[in-house]
Amino acid sequence: MTVTDTELVRQGSDRTTEYALQVSDLRKSFGGVAAVNGATFGIEKGTITGLIGPNGAGKSTVVNLISGSITPDSGSVKLNGEDITGLEPHEIGRKGLIRTFQISREYPEMTVLENLIVSAKDNPGEKLFNVMFRPKLGKRRDAELVQKALETLLTFGLYPLRNEYAANLSGGQKRLLELSRAVMAEPTVLLLDEPMAGVNPALIEKLGEHIVELNQKFGTTFVLVEHNLEIVEKICSEVVVVALGATLAVGTMAELRKNKAVVDAYLGGDVHERVGS
Ligand SMILES: Nc1ncnc2c1ncn2[C@@H]1O[C@H](COP(=O)(O)OP(=O)(O)OP(=O)(O)O)[C@@H](O)[C@H]1O
Ligand SMILES: [Mg+2]
Repeated sequence: MTVTDTELVRQGSDRTTEYALQVSDLRKSFGGVAAVNGATFGIEKGTITGLIGPNGAGKSTVVNLISGSITPDSGSVKLNGEDITGLEPHEIGRKGLIRTFQISREYPEMTVLENLIVSAKDNPGEKLFNVMFRPKLGKRRDAELVQKALETLLTFGLYPLRNEYAANLSGGQKRLLELSRAVMAEPTVLLLDEPMAGVNPALIEKLGEHIVELNQKFGTTFVLVEHNLEIVEKICSEVVVVALGATLAVGTMAELRKNKAVVDAYLGGDVHERVGS
């Protein structure tokens, strides 16, 4: 099945939906395992959309395929209408799509502030040394970058930890750092792979608020892979359910709770089986 532009016109609506992402019949096998097996969905521009499904359903693999970490066997991914299938992650990043990982990937031997600076759009790379240690030699842009990094750290409550080595942060703080780093890249589309995993309830609430704030302030489109359905229900206008590597259903959480196939595949299980993958 391919998703044509005509099919992407929303049912029951007379307007054409503008998609940030169009995923069409995406497939990827590892050995004999079909991890992603025909996933097809659209993510409307400017929305916060959930991507849920059982452990091993293929959610992370879908994120890896969209962001270019791995190449699909077949199918396509469009970003703002442009085919990005098979591009390298840095090329996709430059086009405005950034992802975070299920396991945080900070630079442990850099400070929190340094972690943000190296994650910035048009990363200054080797100029980092000058930015950090010889600020007078730094160009105006570098000073602006430090300023932006500090402001971002303030927003995410990490400012007091700016000179701490990332390795010394708690699990929850590393999640905040991961999101702060992603924000430094100024994405138009941000894919978050289980940003709430291992985070305490107070911080989950806060992370959710940050996502909503970024969405409202910058119009950033979010795709949120999450097992915490409470937060998905709270902040996502639409939710895509993936099971066995394919799209099972799309709707609001309220609609999905009434969908027998979704309940059978995912929602009907013991909640403890869903959390903490
Ligand atoms: N690099 C790989 N090599 C082999 N098999 C893989 C690889 N990556 C994923 N898989 C398999 O593909 C399937 C989908 O995995 P994936 O990690 O995408 O699921 P998920 O929906 O993200 O699950 P979870 O909710 O547990 O994070 C699983 O059976 C997994 O074991
Ligand atoms: Mg996963």
